[in-house]
This record gives sequence, structure tokens and C-alpha cells, in this order.
Amino acid sequence: MKNKIVIANFKMNPVSLKETQKIVRDIEKGISLIKKTEVVLCPPLVFFGSLKRKSKKIFYGAQNSFYEEKGAYTGEVSNNMLSDLGLKYVILGHSERRNGEIGVKEDDSLINKKVKSAFSFSLIPVLCIGEVERDESHQYLEYIKNQIEIGLNGISKNLIEKVIIAYEPVWAIGKNAVREATPEEFREIYVFIKKILSDKFGAKNIENLRIIYGGSVHPENCESFLRDGGADGFLVGRDSLNPKKFLQIINTVESL
Ligand code: PGA
Repeated sequence: MKNKIVIANFKMNPVSLKETQKIVRDIEKGISLIKKTEVVLCPPLVFFGSLKRKSKKIFYGAQNSFYEEKGAYTGEVSNNMLSDLGLKYVILGHSERRNGEIGVKEDDSLINKKVKSAFSFSLIPVLCIGEVERDESHQYLEYIKNQIEIGLNGISKNLIEKVIIAYEPVWAIGKNAVREATPEEFREIYVFIKKILSDKFGAKNIENLRIIYGGSVHPENCESFLRDGGADGFLVGRDSLNPKKFLQIINTVESL
């Protein structure tokens, strides 16, 4: 049985430790009755060590990492450092890092090195994938296939089902989103990803692998992604900074 998972990606928000602590505290207060759903918060890494973490029900993740263990890599943070701090997850290949929004462009082979490194230090990678646009000739399927095949190249069959794949179509992310995806669009990609993975790793080995949706997830639309899209959970950006909305999303996941 796989539990559903809800991951908060705070991105570079909020600007102070005090505000971050308040969001975490409010989420902690609201999740005492949650039993099945896995809840993961990815706050700005600089604040993580100073957070008063009271709830045992919340796991923590980083929003990025570097694949080398240590050395002359100014500004980077390694997976073993994250692991040493007590983090359990790491978001890798987010579109804001792939598409140059932060000044660099990460490609699939770099992301693959990070995924492998995360596993070698016992972190669970949350691999973000998703097309920039949906073209009518369905080129986007090839694009997604590459992201998965290269991103997960060399991962062993016994580790593959630990990976969390977050399908986040770029056109559905953030305040400039054209629109959110529909549950049917998500379902199509879900089946497509499962097929690619089962061809590569064997159907049995990916039975418990979770594929979650991200991109303008709100309390109002999350239920349909679960019911009609078959989502195994969510990666939430903006609404994760609003504890009330984030808790509504968690409660919806828990109730289904
Ligand atoms: P959003 O961001 O929920 O604000 O659209 C999602 C993400 O980028 O992970």
C-alpha cells in the first residue's frame, strides 16, 4: 500500500525565519489528526536548522542539492549534508532550475547525477518533470519521456519505487500560469509515465512508485486530481505558504 504524499515547496519564501516558523507552527497545529498522508515541507534551507520542529508527523526536504559529496563548489550544498541535517527528501529538476529562471539551466544528465547522489545518501528524490508547452503534434510526450529516461538512468530496480515523480507542466506553474492542467491531462501523463517506467524497470518494481501533480494546486481543484486524475499526491507552491489552504489540501487527500 502506498500512502499519498503532499509536499510544500516554499521556494524563496518567506523572507524571515520568524515568518517561516509561524507557517510551520500553523501547519503543525492543523495536522494532528492526519494519519495516512505523508506531509513534507521544503522551506528555505537557511531557516531549516533554526526551526522549532515539534510535530513528528512532518518530514522535511530541500529544494535542490549538488551531486558531489564535498569540495570546491562555492555556494552548493551536498546530499550528505542534507542527510546529516535530518532532511529526508530533495526536490530535483524543478522547472525554475531547468528553464533558466534562476540564471542557470539544469539539463537531464545533471539532474540524473543529483538523483543518484541523493539515493547514495539515503535521501528520497522528488524528480520534477513537465513540458514547457503542449503542442498539437504531441512532441511533449517525447520531451517527458526523455526527462524520465535520462533523469532516472542507472537507478537500480530495488530503489526505483522510492522515487517520487512530480508532473508539473510548466504552463501551469506559478502566478503566470496559463491555466492549471485538467485531471484528464494528468491521468494521460500518469499512464504514460507508468508505461515508460514499467518497460524500463519492470511493472512489479514500480507498483508503489508515486506520481504526484504540481502546478496551481488549490483546495478547490485538488479533489478532482485525486478522484479523476488518480494522483498520488501534490507538490504545492503558492498555497503551501498559506497554512489554511495547505491544510485544506492535506485534509482532502486524507479523506479520500
Ligand atoms: P504553484 O507552484 O503551486 O505556485 O503553481 C508549484 C511548483 O512550482 O512546485
